[in-house]
Amino acid sequence: MYRIIDGKATAATVREEIAAEVNKIKEQGGKIPHLAAILVGHDGASETYVAGKEKACSAVGFYSTVIRYEDTITEHELLEKVAEINKDPEIDGLIVQLPLPQHINEQKVIEAIRPAKDVDGFHPVNVGRMVIGLPAYISATPAGILELIERYRIPTEGKHCVVIGRSNIVGKPMSILLSRKSYPGNCTVTVCHSRTQHLAEITRSADIIVAALGKAKFLTAGMVKDGAVVIDVGITRVKSDKTKSGWKLLGDVDFEQVAPKCTYITPVPGGVGPMTIVSLLKNTLLAARREIYPS
Ligand code: GUN
Repeated sequence: MYRIIDGKATAATVREEIAAEVNKIKEQGGKIPHLAAILVGHDGASETYVAGKEKACSAVGFYSTVIRYEDTITEHELLEKVAEINKDPEIDGLIVQLPLPQHINEQKVIEAIRPAKDVDGFHPVNVGRMVIGLPAYISATPAGILELIERYRIPTEGKHCVVIGRSNIVGKPMSILLSRKSYPGNCTVTVCHSRTQHLAEITRSADIIVAALGKAKFLTAGMVKDGAVVIDVGITRVKSDKTKSGWKLLGDVDFEQVAPKCTYITPVPGGVGPMTIVSLLKNTLLAARREIYPS
């Protein structure tokens, strides 16, 4: 019988732990963590994510500020705002919600954020530090997955982990983190992507599969060996007449087919998703404490 990795419940536990830390900070008269988010335009998914981040901040007692711009803002204006927040001692962490409008160079904006405030962990300095094992902000989705693996005490040492997808935000960091000399880690990692040949053969030899390619129900039973651990990072929104919102979320894994073969599996929704926001909160707490970049 497989076990569900309950991201929703785990995220609630982590939020309680963070809230307890905030109470301690308050008692000691320390700095309350403060996250700023810049949101450009009116992309539906981005609005939802930023609202979720605001709500999570208030749930644990953090301050949060959302700075909104119409999608007519120039790159220069956006960069000036980032520079201003970089210097603001009140704000500990800054995220610029992606995607940005076409006329703005996303990479340029990411690189404008001070690494010490880059709680998304997207700045090349944080990515580079993570790669060589220096203290760094680890981006929220991979950090959330590591937290789930740890809290469910899933063995990783010597295991063959197959990561499907090579994005900068998930696949690439995940593959590096799981091969680190630590727990979770010490895996033998294979990264698969859109040009991989004989993918099913490779995934069938995996002890752990991280599906992060963004194709609904891509991973099917024939691609998974008995006893595997399956982590589903997919969130494809599809129209549904069965939900109140008119939308439902599909993962990259065909859950009904795959789950019976697994020892552990994450559902969608309620798996990796809820963990990403708490990872951002944890990074913001680290930022407020100046733990990664002592000044
Ligand atoms: N867009 C989709 N995911 C993310 C994220 O984790 N951070 C930011 N800033 N934008 C995103």
